[in-house]
Amino acid sequence: MNNFIFQNTTKTYFGKGCVREYLACLVRNSQVVMLAYGGGSIKKNGVYDEAVRILNEAGKTVVEFPGIMPNPTYAKVLEGAALAKERGVEMILGVGGGSVMDCCKAISMAAVYPGDIWEDFWSKPGIVDFSPLPLGVIVTVAGTGSEMNGGAVITNEEKKIKTGRDYPACNPRFALMDPSYTMTVPRRQMVSGGFDTLSHMMETYFSGPDTENVSDDMAEALMRGVIRDLRAAVRDPGDYTARSNLMWEAAMAENRIIKLGKRCDFQCHLMEHQLGAYINCNHGEGLAVLQPVYYRHICGESPGKFARFAVRVWGIPGEGKTEEGLAKAGVEALAAFIKELGLPSTLRELGLTDENILKEIAGSCSLSSGSYKKMTHEEILDIFRECF
Ligand code: NZQ
Ligand code: ZN
Repeated sequence: MNNFIFQNTTKTYFGKGCVREYLACLVRNSQVVMLAYGGGSIKKNGVYDEAVRILNEAGKTVVEFPGIMPNPTYAKVLEGAALAKERGVEMILGVGGGSVMDCCKAISMAAVYPGDIWEDFWSKPGIVDFSPLPLGVIVTVAGTGSEMNGGAVITNEEKKIKTGRDYPACNPRFALMDPSYTMTVPRRQMVSGGFDTLSHMMETYFSGPDTENVSDDMAEALMRGVIRDLRAAVRDPGDYTARSNLMWEAAMAENRIIKLGKRCDFQCHLMEHQLGAYINCNHGEGLAVLQPVYYRHICGESPGKFARFAVRVWGIPGEGKTEEGLAKAGVEALAAFIKELGLPSTLRELGLTDENILKEIAGSCSLSSGSYKKMTHEEILDIFRECF
């Protein structure tokens, strides 16, 4: 194992009824609470009513901040920060998925920081030497794992940049995770969120060191779990066991545990984020298009690890196969799984119509230092063209 330091400051409450049981106690130290949420799904499924009732019964002043869009924008962050300042908000309660949680993390900084948080913390990494507003989250869709980290992915529409930073000071103080809240997530989003989780695990697993290590062992078990649970949830969307496993798997992929001692790649995410900045596509679907093509490009750089993935994650028998053959079979098993789930496999399906724009998007992608093969912008353009 490589050296590491580990701390996760989010206190996590998992299970049916956790909001009813714990929310009032968790907001006890703040009088003015910002209730931030997305486009309205929580109003249809009763989560909003439940949260508002608990806050009202606890005598809180509730400041509503609705309308956080998928792929949250910097303009929305500034709108939330201005409202928080104007109304004297003491804590933020984000109710939703990755988009709501990420937007709330950035608001928690922008509401107290005197400068421009995009310039100082997103356009480049910064040092958070102040306390953001306290944040708590109620998770309503499984996928990003944002509930247990300080990561926030924000789109600057003006600059055409979508980028994520992970500041431990932004870790939610608490995360309430009731899997029954995810039952109303439509199939398309459930599948794309599940694929995002699998993608986080792969982006971590396919990076050095590759000697036997606990983080890779855990990642293999978790990847097998996501594949099993996605299949089960597609077969029966009401399967609580599958849905609750998917919710915890999403958190496990991004709560830093399987990243301990790993370099981590995340080149695919860096490419997908820029696609998102240009065409505002769904995050998990963007990854589903790119990841197998990216792995076809790089699997020759670490055939042993891709062969191990084929055997240990997909159960492909190794007998009679070369390491290279097995490595390729693992990547093709991934591509077949994406098809089986009905996820898209071309950029056209994501809504991209003009091939000429690909050069500009490729040129704007950041390059990962953790990849088995350090990409160039030309290679990224090749991958995009192949995906088109
Ligand atoms: O907005 P509403 O009406 O609530 O609907 C949402 C939204 O349309 C809907 N939804 C959520 N809970 C629901 C529900 N619909 C019915 N029933 C429920 N219980 O789901 C849709 C998608 O929500 P969103 O939050 O956008 O999805 P996701 O959780 O996939 O988040 C995506 C964002 O997170 C970023 C992505 O780039 C993207 O911007 N990421 C954040 C990461 C992090 N902070 O660690 C890591 C990821 O790699 C990712 O980049
Ligand atoms: Zn992701």
